[in-house]
Amino acid sequence: MSYTTALHGGATDDILKSLHKQFTIDDQTLFKITTTFLSEISDGLSSYGRAMAMMHVSPTFLSYAIPTFVKGVPDGSETGTFLALDLGGTNLRVCEVTLQGDQTFSLRQQKYKVSEALKTGEVTTLFDYLADSVDAFLTESSTPSKEPSSLIGSDPYAASNQDTPYLPLALTFSFPVEQSALDSGVLLTWTKGFSAKNAVGKDVVKLLQDAFDRKHIHVKCVALVNDTVGALLSRAYTSGGCILGAIFGTGTNGAYVEEVSKITKLGNSAAAAAGGDMIVNTEWGAFNNSRSALPTTPYDNKVDRESINPRFQAFEKFISGMYLGEIARNVILSMIDAAPKPILFGGRSSDQLNKQWGLDTALLSEIEEAWEGLGRFSLSPGSVEVTELEKLRRIQGVLVKRLELSPPDISLADADIVRQACTLIASRAARLSATAVAAILVHTGRARLWDQGEQSSAGLKDEGKRIGVGVDGSLVEFYPNFQTKLRASLRMLVGPEVESRVDIGMAKDGSGVGAALCALVAQRQSQAART
Ligand code: GLC
Repeated sequence: MSYTTALHGGATDDILKSLHKQFTIDDQTLFKITTTFLSEISDGLSSYGRAMAMMHVSPTFLSYAIPTFVKGVPDGSETGTFLALDLGGTNLRVCEVTLQGDQTFSLRQQKYKVSEALKTGEVTTLFDYLADSVDAFLTESSTPSKEPSSLIGSDPYAASNQDTPYLPLALTFSFPVEQSALDSGVLLTWTKGFSAKNAVGKDVVKLLQDAFDRKHIHVKCVALVNDTVGALLSRAYTSGGCILGAIFGTGTNGAYVEEVSKITKLGNSAAAAAGGDMIVNTEWGAFNNSRSALPTTPYDNKVDRESINPRFQAFEKFISGMYLGEIARNVILSMIDAAPKPILFGGRSSDQLNKQWGLDTALLSEIEEAWEGLGRFSLSPGSVEVTELEKLRRIQGVLVKRLELSPPDISLADADIVRQACTLIASRAARLSATAVAAILVHTGRARLWDQGEQSSAGLKDEGKRIGVGVDGSLVEFYPNFQTKLRASLRMLVGPEVESRVDIGMAKDGSGVGAALCALVAQRQSQAART
């Protein structure tokens, strides 16, 4: 019997078993979720239903699948220097990216905080702030690239009726936007805690351009890109091929390369007539909003009900960094409140724990690091293996510090219960994430679902070849074993042969580099139109 098993008994054991049962998704259910995913992708490709319903603000269970008007992917030979503005993660970022043309790039960036007031206030105030941040970045810049002409070589964009050169900028805007061109698209809904007023239904490029113009800032927004598209493009640029860009961070979403002929909702448009490939933004965070396939616990229901967008972004609320801490907080609180006897912390709570969003996903990550001996808890070479007891003491220390509880209130048994709860919540997130990746592989003909036993890969697209996947986000980058668990479930879903060819790599700075690549495409298109 391990030390941690010996710690518990009776009611605690029952609670742990029940949590296990609620948070563990068996293989059959994972297959079912993937199948549901496949049908929602097909629905999204054939109808704008979701977009229309969003615009009329009625909750909808239809799917996205947003054509991005980004055709094809880069090969690493692209060159140029571009400005990028990135809104949608924890911070607002302004960057200047130089593509060197040899699969490498250099990047200079500045991060700016986005306050709650900005996230929830009037949209013009938010966009004024975006414009001011770009202005501050350019003003603070001490390098020569601050000069407009050096940013885009000898062909700066010119305003239509003035001679002043405008700096081209690509906006990475990581929210559901129905694009109508590379440089325009209307916001369908906010996600991830943003709710700025009078934004839904508006063209976000215009909102930004108006802010630049109001302030006489000589910057022109030439391209609009989702962070998943950025991840796909930047991974393609640095690794020579990528079919899927995915974010597992504050939110979760994926964009993949689709054949235009399969995006049937493009109808008889010019984009459809042009054929070829186009990147599609799935907005998979909104997958299965009906929750017909997702095994929901009461903790998930509570998180959803108290969020600013109940019934939306169902998949995201099971997976992403914005929500895992909040799920854990609710699980912990239920154990503090357990009757007739509390299960955790002797029934004591803290302001931190009582506050909505009071528990950050980074805490779950830290607890798992302490248990796994990772991160700042890594063993130095040659040191003796740490005992379970010592690991639990470390977790106890982390909890005392972060939850603002006093040490006597947190026993080692408490530390172990919290640790197990965190692992369950994060493992579920990683397993669910695999269904999204598997669905894209199956949908694009690169895999078959493996639930029928051993199958051959013969006849699959890219048979025998590497399948590039670019990922970004705090979970996939920092959460202990997130990627390992995702891969294990992916292997179960699509079989070991295909899984072994899936090359998942970080698309570091994808939002900046991907945006720069989009600006480049926009620049080329604009040049082509002028000649
Ligand atoms: C949310 C947004 C989506 C974005 C994702 C990751 O799901 O709706 O556009 O890609 O978060 O940042």
